[in-house]
Amino acid sequence: MNAPHMSAAEFRREAHRAIDFIADYLVSVESLPVLSRVKPNEIYNALPAHAPKDPASQRSSIPAEWSSIFSDLETTILPGLTHWQSPNFFAFFPANTSYPAILGELLSAGLGVQGMLWLTSPACSELETKVLDWLGELIGLPREFLSDGAEPAKQNGNGGGVIEGTASEATLVALCAARHRVRTLLTSSNPSAPPPLRPFAPSIYTSTQAHSSVIKAAMIAGLAISPEDRTHLRLIDCDTNFAMDPTALERAIREDLKQGLTPTYVAATVGTTSSTAIDPVDKIAHVLQSTGCNKLGTWLHIDAAHAGAACVCPEYRFMLTGIEHADSIAFNPHKWLLTNFDSNCFYTRDRKSLTGALSITPEYLRNAGTDSGAIDYRDWQVPLGRRFRALKLWFVLRHYGAQGLRAHIREHIRLSELFESLVRADPRFEIVAPRTMNLICFRLKANDAANKRLLDTLNAGGKIYLTHTVLPNVGYTIRFCIGATATQEHHVRAAWKLIQDTARD
Ligand SMILES: Cc1ncc(COP(=O)(O)O)c(C=O)c1O
Repeated sequence: MNAPHMSAAEFRREAHRAIDFIADYLVSVESLPVLSRVKPNEIYNALPAHAPKDPASQRSSIPAEWSSIFSDLETTILPGLTHWQSPNFFAFFPANTSYPAILGELLSAGLGVQGMLWLTSPACSELETKVLDWLGELIGLPREFLSDGAEPAKQNGNGGGVIEGTASEATLVALCAARHRVRTLLTSSNPSAPPPLRPFAPSIYTSTQAHSSVIKAAMIAGLAISPEDRTHLRLIDCDTNFAMDPTALERAIREDLKQGLTPTYVAATVGTTSSTAIDPVDKIAHVLQSTGCNKLGTWLHIDAAHAGAACVCPEYRFMLTGIEHADSIAFNPHKWLLTNFDSNCFYTRDRKSLTGALSITPEYLRNAGTDSGAIDYRDWQVPLGRRFRALKLWFVLRHYGAQGLRAHIREHIRLSELFESLVRADPRFEIVAPRTMNLICFRLKANDAANKRLLDTLNAGGKIYLTHTVLPNVGYTIRFCIGATATQEHHVRAAWKLIQDTARD
């Protein structure tokens, strides 16, 4: 039997149906309960125990079979979705999509290229380099972070950006680059010196409010065997605004140096997950200088996964003060910049250390493009293979332009200011963390249990979806994050009214 491929005509018909499905979904998603109400295993059990044996064409006609697939999508799968694209989704952080980005995803799938090497699709690599340069410029990165910013210009420079899957991946590859650089510097600084008495013992630093991906990166890199292992990892205390305390960082670094450890990696967060607190990058960089870490090559990475998008607006670039001292930064257009998951932009100004840590070239990958110095993005990431993710970012940038992206961010921040003022005007509630952008952390002036009950009741109602955190010296905190592509003022006002009414009841 020949493989029963779908014909181009059948594809055209079903693709139209899929596009209609997506447009109908996004137009009507507001009417669906935001948080899925299914129980564990409900979807699994609703699906057949085994994959179909015969091709669709033998079971019935192709159109009939595809009608049944779309019907299953509607009746079985949709109820099991939490609707991140709902304008009433105020949980976690946004996961923006937009029609231009969806078209980019579709074309990426349709073109089906694999961009592991420059050679395997030069346009896939070069569009990525260009789009990342555009975007880096848009968020105000120093030119050293761009591919064309370092001297000598273009491909021989030492900066540039890459699209990876997630911010977690960026945190990990930055750690690998850091270890590579510090270790190389240690061993090369005095080649005739006797081997060190102790093995290389890197230490890494992040704040108690940093995303768990920093600890996970340490675990993957073999620097922690469990989330609690502090052999190499230091969690630095925060100030009252939940930002890393540079004095505490300095103390930890000096203590480690005394113990013979080598400070290797500092992961600062601009826009923490819990409260969007901003670690003071400039002060952290100053600590690295005053403790001599700069000479060791200690790497400063900035995790701006959520907040980086706001820097397309010049008025929010203050969050990156000190970026000129950092070695790398990552942010996620798939959170708040209208580009479907997955799209994490990672920039470094020391790409040689990054590729030094990650590059390995088996014979079957050798080619003239690599030999000529073209960018092979496989050397900038964990996997070998890579999708054509630059397309969706390119479409978003071309469709919205810088001003359109700024309008998107500014409107959400305006709505966040509005929501904050509504909370402040109600004496039953309090704001418990400074609002830096689009996240409002608040709670009832009551105990944790009452706040949890309020949140659970709101989420069970299905009209809105919020999540919580626990902040030091505050306790149970309700997070209201405004960033969904479709959220407008009336959604925010309606959500607040619902919160007030529920609190009263
Ligand atoms: C500050 C920060 N870093 C990292 C992450 C993880 O993002 P990703 O899913 O892209 O790995 C998040 C997500 O919440 C985050 O807020």
